[in-house]
Amino acid sequence: MKKRLLITGINGMLGQNLVKEYSKDYMISGIDLNPGIYPTHSDIRVTQLDLNDSTAVNQHIMQVHPHALIHTAAYTNVDRAEAEREVAFAVNAAVPALLADLCLELDIPMIHISTDYVFDGQKGPYAESDPCHPHGSYAESKYAGEKAVLDSGAKVIVVRPNVMYGHGVDLKSSFVDWLVKELRGNNPVNIVDDQYNNPTYARRLSQVIRKLLERDAWGIWHFGSKEVISRYSFALKIADNFGLPSELINAISTGDLNQRAPRPMRSGLICEKVKRELGINILSIGEELALLKEEMDVR
Ligand SMILES: NC(=O)c1ccc[n+]([C@@H]2O[C@H](COP(=O)([O-])OP(=O)(O)OC[C@H]3O[C@@H](n4cnc5c(N)ncnc54)[C@H](OP(=O)(O)O)[C@@H]3O)[C@@H](O)[C@H]2O)c1
Repeated sequence: MKKRLLITGINGMLGQNLVKEYSKDYMISGIDLNPGIYPTHSDIRVTQLDLNDSTAVNQHIMQVHPHALIHTAAYTNVDRAEAEREVAFAVNAAVPALLADLCLELDIPMIHISTDYVFDGQKGPYAESDPCHPHGSYAESKYAGEKAVLDSGAKVIVVRPNVMYGHGVDLKSSFVDWLVKELRGNNPVNIVDDQYNNPTYARRLSQVIRKLLERDAWGIWHFGSKEVISRYSFALKIADNFGLPSELINAISTGDLNQRAPRPMRSGLICEKVKRELGINILSIGEELALLKEEMDVR
């Protein structure tokens, strides 16, 4: 009998990658706002539900009674969160708190996806033990969510990715997809050269999550790639990997964008813990982009 896995945000970038990772040997059900991308004849059951509806969520989770819950859904519009602070806090803080309480009640593990935005981005890269200091509504709401699940008493694994990219169907926001499309269309693009991190490849993050869950690895974990680079350098690597014209990529500074919300400028996540304690190989961005290209080519 296959184990039951419940994934919130199952239609999103990480949700889809988790389905790829688990669908062979787990019974997967998911929660999302929209019916989504999985054919009705597939084994993937998606329940259309707003996670803010605590009564419905409670009923649904008690009924499914999964063996584990992976919570990827979030309010992810960093700039809009400045105008919709309460909405961001409801989704990113109150919802994970509720889910952790339900996991505690069912005595099942919860994997919660957080972010490098819990740090202020003044002097990254950061280790799991570094003090958090979020700036802006999205960052503060995600930090509140992370704290709530860690304080809940449930068996919790918190994973922090940064600048996640990956392959999927009908993804709302994927930096790589967007850039590839623009460069293929011969359109010039402006990319900031003063924001640094070590981007996280969603396909490999899904493998790491699976390993963490198999090991009952409670606590906080960072996962990204080997080198911390600027977004501009990342864009150049993407162009190189996909054989696209890098001369269309112009470097600009964050100040030029006039974004509402602050960004962690010198961010990045130290991944020594996952390497040391789980034996996970941390790959270079070039290696992971090559894997992504393979994944996209086989589609
Ligand atoms: N993407 C990144 O660069 C990045 C970096 C660091 C951390 N993270 C974290 O990683 C996690 C996964 O990110 P992702 O990029 O996979 O996100 P995503 O592609 O936006 O997927 C999230 C999914 O959750 C759904 N959702 C949002 N609010 C919901 C609600 N109230 N009820 C039910 N479903 C809801 C979304 O539906 P709609 O699309 O209809 O809103 C979407 O299908 C998030 O927790 C995010 O904070 C992401």
